[in-house]
This record gives sequence, structure tokens and C-alpha cells, in this order.
Amino acid sequence: MLGTPWIALALATSIALLTTRHRTAKRNRLLTEQERAMPPSTLSRTAVVVGAAGGIGQACAHRLAEAGFSVVAVGRDRPGRADRVVAGLSARGSGPGQRHQFRACDAFSLGEVGRCAEGIVRDYDSVDALVMSQGMAWVRGFTPTEEGNDKKVTLHLWSRAAFAHGLLPSLRRSDATSMPGGPVVVSVLSGGVHSPYGGYDSDPELRESYSIKNAADMAGYYNDLFFDGLARRPGNEGISFVHAAPGFVNSNWGTEMPWFLRAAIRCLQPLGKSTDECAELMVDPIIKASAQGGSLGGLRPPSDDGMGVYIMNEDSTSGNLTMEHTQNVVQSVWKTTVDVLKRAGIHLES
Ligand SMILES: NC(=O)c1ccc[n+]([C@@H]2O[C@H](COP(=O)([O-])OP(=O)(O)OC[C@H]3O[C@@H](n4cnc5c(N)ncnc54)[C@H](OP(=O)(O)O)[C@@H]3O)[C@@H](O)[C@H]2O)c1
Repeated sequence: MLGTPWIALALATSIALLTTRHRTAKRNRLLTEQERAMPPSTLSRTAVVVGAAGGIGQACAHRLAEAGFSVVAVGRDRPGRADRVVAGLSARGSGPGQRHQFRACDAFSLGEVGRCAEGIVRDYDSVDALVMSQGMAWVRGFTPTEEGNDKKVTLHLWSRAAFAHGLLPSLRRSDATSMPGGPVVVSVLSGGVHSPYGGYDSDPELRESYSIKNAADMAGYYNDLFFDGLARRPGNEGISFVHAAPGFVNSNWGTEMPWFLRAAIRCLQPLGKSTDECAELMVDPIIKASAQGGSLGGLRPPSDDGMGVYIMNEDSTSGNLTMEHTQNVVQSVWKTTVDVLKRAGIHLES
């Protein structure tokens, strides 16, 4: 286990900061009662939500069902889970044309992620939104998946790259009548709140210099860089890619931690926002893009050229890229991602 007292101190400081920011966010951005009371659209729209069986992902899936989306909920298989997830979605949205389903996928396996995405593309002509919030919070060192990648980095980064890339054919077919603002991809992790990871060249897969901080920074930094690269690829101009930070949320986050850290987190979590409050903010650009005259709710691309990834703060306002975000690093991280996904049989253009 890595430096436990330091981890506890870092966690306590981060949580205190996040909680303060959350109070302001909550006042500023939650939808009004009047907005929430608007009837869901009857147009047929499809959202894929990864990590939809619990936590922030489940709340995002529920909010999208409530807004009239048919939800493809992706998560690990568990006895009775598929029925429970679909029943939860149907209770939140069962308008004309809405069909929800659960698709089992263990995102530790990039091969499985590739097959899951292929199956969705085969069965759904178009996909209008993708939300990815699969994650874990353990404090161990590099822990390999069966494919040899670190487990935590796989959930927070590689599996997200694989899902977004795999679903591109269906995202590109999203129809402007159902999504006037175009299809939207949201990766819920740490947009605007992580530091850059300096080892993108010397230790690109974080095999030599693994630490909790490096793993968090690397996953956050690479989310910015990979999705920036993907947004700029020919054919993806109409798709909005958003890297969002959820803030401090009262979810199951921390389940994998040692009991004493988990206990401290569970005591503090009621100070954070609920998963429903968080979801309202995380899917804000999707709901706005699906409305007449679709926009992304005022999000602006942070790059000077007006292209690339959007960074979204926990209150769904625009956030910033790191100072070390350059197109050279975008290319370097793209190449690393090509190599990692290739080992799982997924082929990105190099
Ligand atoms: N909560 C916070 O305060 C907070 C703060 C900053 C960032 N975040 C980030 O936000 C994201 C969502 O966090 P959360 O609060 O929703 O966490 P959570 O309550 O722990 O939920 C994690 C989700 O990921 C799924 N998952 C875990 N391992 C998986 C696997 N191998 N394959 C597929 N799905 C898997 C879980 O499903 P199972 O039920 O199958 O485990 C669950 O649905 C995470 O990336 C987290 O790091 C959270």
C-alpha cells in the first residue's frame, strides 16, 4: 500500500476543497423546477451509459431516461442486475418509443469493451450520447488486468478510449432532428482538476513510475489529450467530446479502499452532492444538445483554435486544459493509445 498517511491527508484536503466548491455549484447550476417539469421529448434518441449499474453512471442513466432517451446501460454482470437496471430506467422514463436495455461488459477487458461497442453499433444504427463513468478508487500500485494493463488506468482511460472509438460509426449517424446540437460524449473523471503527467514520453503507460498521484494525473491528462485528438479526427467534427469533473459525490466511490480510509470517506460523503444532483450537471450538455436550437449549455472549447475537447467543471461551466496541453503531446498520447488498444485487437488510425 502506498504512503497511507499521505493518502489520508491528500484525501481530506481534496474533499474539503471539493465540498466548498460544490455548495457554490449547487446554487448556480441545478435546473429550475419549471425546466424539470417540461415533458420529455417524443423523438427517439439513444444514450449509451457505461458504469450504469451504480453511482454517478446510474444517476446519469436515470436522468437521460427521464429526458426521453432510450438507454443502453453497460456494466458488469451480476445476478438479477439486468432486470433491476432496466426496471429502474423504465420507472424514470417509459414514453413512446423508449426501450431500455442492459449490456454486460467487464471494462477491465479491452477485448470485451471492443466487442460490446461492436455489438451496440450492429444493433443501433445511431447513438446520440455516450456517458462513461466506470471507475475504482483503490490505493494499490500497478495491478495488471489479464491483458497486462493497470486496472484503475484501464477503467479511467483505456476502456473509455476504446468505447468512444468503437461507437464512432453510430455516433456519426446521430440525426440532427433528434440531436440539434449533435451527438455528445461525456467522460466523467477529472476535467480541469488534474495536473499534467510529465512521463508521457519516458513512461507512457505508467509502468515504471506508478503512484496514486501519477495514476490520477495520467488518466486525467490523457483523457484531455486523447479526446482532443479524437475530436480533431476527420469525420468527428460534428461530435462534442467533453471531459468532466463530478466534484465530491455521495456515491459508492472508495469501495476498494482499506476500511479506515473508506470509513473516513463515508463519514464525509453526506457533505457532497447526491448522485442525482451530480448527474443533472454531468448530462447538462447532452440535454441541451437535444433541445431545439441545441447548444452545449454555454460550454466553450478551451483551445485557441476553437476545436477539440471541452472541459467541464463540476457545475457544468467551462473548465480549462492544463498549461502542458500541446498538439505534440496529443500526438504522443494518441500513439500510446494506439499501441495499448492494438494489443487487445482494437485498431485506431495511427
Ligand atoms: N464520487 C466522487 O466523489 C468522485 C470524485 C471525483 C471523480 N470521481 C470519478 O467519477 C467516476 C464515477 O465515480 P462514482 O462516484 O460513480 O463511483 P462508484 O460509485 O464507485 O461507481 C463506479 C461504477 O463503475 C463501475 N465499474 C467498476 N469496475 C468496473 C468494471 N470492471 N467494468 C465495468 N464497470 C465497472 C461500477 O460497477 P460495479 O457495480 O460493477 O462495481 C460502478 O457502476 C469514477 O471514475 C470516479 O473516479 C468520483
